[in-house]
Amino acid sequence: MTQHPFIPLDEPLLGGNERKYLNQCIDTNWISWQGEFGGRLEKAMAGYCETKHALAIVNGTYALVLALQALGVGPDDEVICPTLTMSATAFAATTVGAKVVWVDNAPHSLTLDPADVARKITAKTKAVLAVHLYGRAADMERLLAVTKPKNIPVIEDVAEGFAAKTSGRRVGGWGTIACHSFHNKILASGEGGAVTLNDDRLAAKLNELRTPPPDNAGGTVIALNNRMSNLAAAVALAQLERVDELVETRRKVAKLYDQYFAGVPGLETFKERDNEWCVFWRYQIALTPGHPLTNKELVARLRKHNIESRPIFTLMSDHPYYKPLSSGEYPNARLVSEQSLDLPSSPRLTPEQIERVAKTVIECVANKR
Ligand SMILES: Cc1ncc(COP(=O)(O)O)c(C=O)c1O
Repeated sequence: MTQHPFIPLDEPLLGGNERKYLNQCIDTNWISWQGEFGGRLEKAMAGYCETKHALAIVNGTYALVLALQALGVGPDDEVICPTLTMSATAFAATTVGAKVVWVDNAPHSLTLDPADVARKITAKTKAVLAVHLYGRAADMERLLAVTKPKNIPVIEDVAEGFAAKTSGRRVGGWGTIACHSFHNKILASGEGGAVTLNDDRLAAKLNELRTPPPDNAGGTVIALNNRMSNLAAAVALAQLERVDELVETRRKVAKLYDQYFAGVPGLETFKERDNEWCVFWRYQIALTPGHPLTNKELVARLRKHNIESRPIFTLMSDHPYYKPLSSGEYPNARLVSEQSLDLPSSPRLTPEQIERVAKTVIECVANKR
């Protein structure tokens, strides 16, 4: 078998001002959080998400932890979270001592079902985590119709969905607080994160929570250092300057895959909802139920052809920490999780590489490879 060059799942595309801004950090000797790029990034993030405030945070995980802390979530509180998500979403709620209450996905979807959120709300619900998973936008309009009348704050987890839209508006400005990650996501700065929000009081609280008091004086909270370095902010800003181009490239990759996979027996793709505009941080396919191959077997076959892919997340309610604590059923999320896989989705992919991935997938699914 001829061995073709390796195609990775994802790679950052660093072709803008990243190097120039990093050189500026080094030339000016400002590499820690005090440099100019943190503030510039925050202004640009608030502008892009159309919020009053943005604060750069060390990473997306701690953006979530601080958001929950700022909202006063703690022991005895319940936090609603989709079971299909990356671990950090749920772990953040557990880290502040709250009980995680799982919700299912909407049918044939990668994001949460607002109707299931409505069923899971109790007097103890202190927040809902709305995850824009894999570059798909959760249906914020339907979700807020459930949470707003009950005054329940929604925290958007935008880690994988930056720049996606729902009901014509970008994610990151719908919820009470939105949490962002720059770890090889739509924007890539190595590590990094941010929160975006409109509420002045919460913004001041979040600032207090990310900043240890200088000389140990002042402040009213236990504040660990959760700031982002000037170096990471410099790279994130350069990425944000060209985000629309990065996202359009990802959408073109997805469109090409859609064309190759249309009508292929044994395979399904995930369509955008009518009110949704996806950014395809990862492109997924699903094997039809009953297909003789599992998603893990397909991943192994593609690996033999030097193509990296990955089964999508397993359900967090099945994680060994949470499993003994919950007994619910999440049929929509389970079906998607068991049948689906991520294909290479980098904005660096060439049309030839996309063709090679798609044709290899189609032949593997037809059991010809
Ligand atoms: C959905 C989701 N939330 C939160 C995070 C955490 O972000 P970070 O890796 O920046 O801590 C990630 C990271 O992969 C994620 O995918």
